[in-house]
Amino acid sequence: MLVLGFESSCDETGVALYDTEKGLLAHALHSQVEMHAAYGGVVPELASRDHIRRVLPLTQRVLTQANKTLADIDGVAYTQGPGLAGALLVGASIAQSLAFTLQVPSIGVHHLEGHLLAPLLEENPPNFPFVALLVSGGHSQLMRVDGIGQYQLLGDTLDDAAGEAFDKTAKLLGLGYPGGPALAKLAALGKPRYKLPRPMLNSGDLNFSFSGLKTAVLTLVNQQSAHQKLDDESKTLDTTTQADIAWEFQESVTEILTNKCMAALRETGLDNLIVSGGVGANLRLRERLNAATKRKMCRVSYPRLEFCTDNGAMIAFAGAMRLKALQNQPLATNYGVQIKARWDLAELKAP
Ligand code: KG4
Ligand code: ZN
Repeated sequence: MLVLGFESSCDETGVALYDTEKGLLAHALHSQVEMHAAYGGVVPELASRDHIRRVLPLTQRVLTQANKTLADIDGVAYTQGPGLAGALLVGASIAQSLAFTLQVPSIGVHHLEGHLLAPLLEENPPNFPFVALLVSGGHSQLMRVDGIGQYQLLGDTLDDAAGEAFDKTAKLLGLGYPGGPALAKLAALGKPRYKLPRPMLNSGDLNFSFSGLKTAVLTLVNQQSAHQKLDDESKTLDTTTQADIAWEFQESVTEILTNKCMAALRETGLDNLIVSGGVGANLRLRERLNAATKRKMCRVSYPRLEFCTDNGAMIAFAGAMRLKALQNQPLATNYGVQIKARWDLAELKAP
């Protein structure tokens, strides 16, 4: 079964072709990061307009890459939510029109289910059940995954998501957008000099809280700015101080995430962990998780770096898994365009 997948929930247009027999055939991505950088964050209206401009050329590109035509497609998948309403509408409209024209089934995919299943696109994928750490710009969740659509929430953030904490801290340090990768890059140059808290490290549950950490960084930045006599707000700290703060911040977040992942494995009695979402690209997090799981004879799997952040491949894959499971049932495809800007993962059911 050949499935064409579309991702357009935020600032990346992703298109991919997934074959349930042969695997991922092609994928293409356009990131709007440069366009939004001038505004310091995603501008929803600009995002929607750019998705419109990019989606058809990207579709043409994946078809050419895979040496396929529209007539070869057996199903269409698209991100139905959660995300920016206007941006979601672009992907949903294109996907539904195409599916209607080709008279093939279509499926609306939950963006987080896409992230969650992304590690299964890699070679030698883990088997169900496993523990999943989903750390993106909007989510920090630990889940027990027993199969497609069988997700049990084990822990969640009480305030900021891990990616959000990276982005906000990067802003405090005067780094540009997107903050996470910039902060991680700077942290690689840093050394242990400051001490930041480890919120909820010993809370006895699997929940997270990152907003206090952000406040602690703000206090530290203010102290150091006063120390360096930077009264002019436009001036930033020297690079060494910035890097040392970034280093300690990254140590704090990755220590908390690693600790909670290991506690989740212990509590569920499972020995398989997967990590997905944008923060899953963080190399220090991977280093810590690799060491901790090895010590406990557990296995950890990640998506390749480019599939940690938003992409079409994870949507084509999650859609293909669901369409395949429904293949032998009479399918009442609804070609209407309905998006879910807010959509709780817990509402999903097994196909
Ligand atoms: O999964 P994603 O692309 O988008 C959402 O669905 O939210 O994740 C984006 C988030 C951003 O907050 C970004 O700063 C963070 O992932 N991120 C990173 C790294 N790369 C991306 N955070 C830490 N280290 C990284 N290397
Ligand atoms: Zn995402």
